[in-house]
Amino acid sequence: MRLTKIKFFDLFYRAYHAWPHVYNGVTQLISIGQWEKWQDRVFEDINGKNILEVGVGPGKLLLRIAKKGYRVTGIELRRGMAYEARRRVKEAGFDIDILNQSIYHLPFKDEVFDCIVLTFILSEIVHLEKAIIELKRVLKPGGKVIIIAGGMPQDRNLIARFIFKIVESHTTLRLERNNKAYFEDYGFKVTREDFGPFNLVNKIIAIK
Ligand SMILES: C[S@@+](CC[C@H](N)C(=O)[O-])C[C@H]1O[C@@H](n2cnc3c(N)ncnc32)[C@H](O)[C@@H]1O
Repeated sequence: MRLTKIKFFDLFYRAYHAWPHVYNGVTQLISIGQWEKWQDRVFEDINGKNILEVGVGPGKLLLRIAKKGYRVTGIELRRGMAYEARRRVKEAGFDIDILNQSIYHLPFKDEVFDCIVLTFILSEIVHLEKAIIELKRVLKPGGKVIIIAGGMPQDRNLIARFIFKIVESHTTLRLERNNKAYFEDYGFKVTREDFGPFNLVNKIIAIK
């Protein structure tokens, strides 16, 4: 690989995923301590009993979902993160399945979950159509995909455009993709709300 082809933000992104403790520090830093508050926006919309979280990372939200009494299952691609999430839930006295799998191949029967939660994972999903087909398959009719994600706000405000102009050439993350439109194309009824500093965080609710 030529040096000019290396995406420096991607290198940083991969590195911080490798160490859960570094990950926790970085997420606190980039969110000015708001990360967990932003994740918790999912609770405004969760209903039903059977919940799936995809891309659980170190498992903090997963544990909070379980503590609220939901039956929750976790999916995580990276072994180190899955290990850390398992350690966390076990230490808290919970028995939760955290499967080292990908969003593209969910090891479940059709129509088993009331809600599927994804926080800060969508920009990493390259083949979004493929992921949506899997999410739709395992979701019950009327079930919801609840997403919290960072990305270009709908108002395309000046600060956001400035930040993305700098970031976009240094990353392969899908930060400018219109995720809402993808879910609509697959027959979901979708709402989107932007929030956080300069509207850089968004919540998408996609109902099957
Ligand atoms: C930025 S982290 C977010 C973790 C956690 N949801 C949070 O809010 O802190 C993105 C997570 O998604 C996971 N991930 C990325 N691609 C994935 C895939 N195809 N299937 C499952 N998990 C994936 C990564 O390993 C990482 O732990």
